[in-house]
Amino acid sequence: MDYKEHIAIVENWPKEGVQFKDITPLMDNGPAFKAAVDDIVTYAKKRDIDIVVGPEARGFIVGCPVSYALEIGFAPIRKKGKLPRETIEVDYGLEYGQNILAIHKDAIKPGQRVLIIDDLLATGGTIEATIDLVEQLGGEVAGCAFLIELQYLNGRDKLEGYDVLTLMQYE
Ligand code: PRP
Repeated sequence: MDYKEHIAIVENWPKEGVQFKDITPLMDNGPAFKAAVDDIVTYAKKRDIDIVVGPEARGFIVGCPVSYALEIGFAPIRKKGKLPRETIEVDYGLEYGQNILAIHKDAIKPGQRVLIIDDLLATGGTIEATIDLVEQLGGEVAGCAFLIELQYLNGRDKLEGYDVLTLMQYE
């Protein structure tokens, strides 16, 4: 499937000079969204995954249907102050800003094989922070799956040694 047909390119959003890749047309299209989720499920099935982890907000949209299909759990990573119980936190930089991400301390058990899912690999700041949180809790990152990779932002450089799937690449 040519997933790029279902991505809307928005110039200068959310700020001047950024070319935003909007995944909502892909989500709107049942067969396309299902195919994208199924591709990630196929990838996951070869890697013996125990739990899916996804950062807010779009990591939830892609990650939850994958965890449902695999019949395994989903652990959310949220921006600081959103999770109600004891968390660990990490500072991270992203394509257009700076933030703090958090995960519940008991979200991952030591030794669990984790699949991290997000919509987009841009600078890699979010995935790097997410990997940090997962590994601090003793999880093993068995894979990282994204709908879109912005190759010109070199996020992959932060993922050396990790197993990565991206369904669309923009040069
Ligand atoms: C976007 C996107 C990824 C991240 C990718 O999320 O959904 O999580 O940026 O960029 P990076 O590789 O440069 O870190 P954002 O932080 O905008 O949060 P949102 O999904 O809550 O809007």
